[in-house]
Amino acid sequence: MDFTKAILKPVIRQKEIEARVGEISASLDSLYARMPVVAVCVLKGAFLFFSDLVRRLHNPFLEVDFVRLSSYGKDTRSSGHVTLGKDVEVDIRGKHVLIVEDIVDTGHSMKFLVDLLAARNPADIKVVALVDKQERREVEVPVIMSGFSVDQGFLVGYGMDYAEHFRHLPDICDLSMPEQTPERA
Ligand code: PRP
Repeated sequence: MDFTKAILKPVIRQKEIEARVGEISASLDSLYARMPVVAVCVLKGAFLFFSDLVRRLHNPFLEVDFVRLSSYGKDTRSSGHVTLGKDVEVDIRGKHVLIVEDIVDTGHSMKFLVDLLAARNPADIKVVALVDKQERREVEVPVIMSGFSVDQGFLVGYGMDYAEHFRHLPDICDLSMPEQTPERA
């Protein structure tokens, strides 16, 4: 693939993302107040959203941690085959777990993670997603807040990729190629 030929159309600009992240962090500060919370970043896609979000939180009991999830197969649709490349390191027992994800599509990746962490007896598990593609959901996921609802298009930027490219873009963009339409891997 020739990445120089990619057509990138900004659909959500940096300023709009910043404003929405501010709203979400304010809601999370109210929701969790001074409770013990572990914010879990789902690598790689959530890395920018997570870093912007947690630096705005004021809870003195907040801990942060990271997991690495991959859908099976790099260039196919999410199929429900999810692998864990890196687990959380902090003890989540009795604590409130806040999973921070870039995009919830079919929901298979999130269901896998929620089931895995639920077995460790946290107080509860909630999910915030930058982008919620609710119309494509195949399994139920406890998304309590999302940045944006988007139904169509292949989104890249602000952490989201196509074949590991475009994660660094500050805007969320719709990607198309002159010859083909990429599928969400
Ligand atoms: C993407 C995204 C979610 C998942 C959403 O991850 O970050 O984790 O797909 O799809 P689903 O709801 O249909 O399961 P990907 O496997 O592409 O890894 P990445 O985060 O490293 O980009």
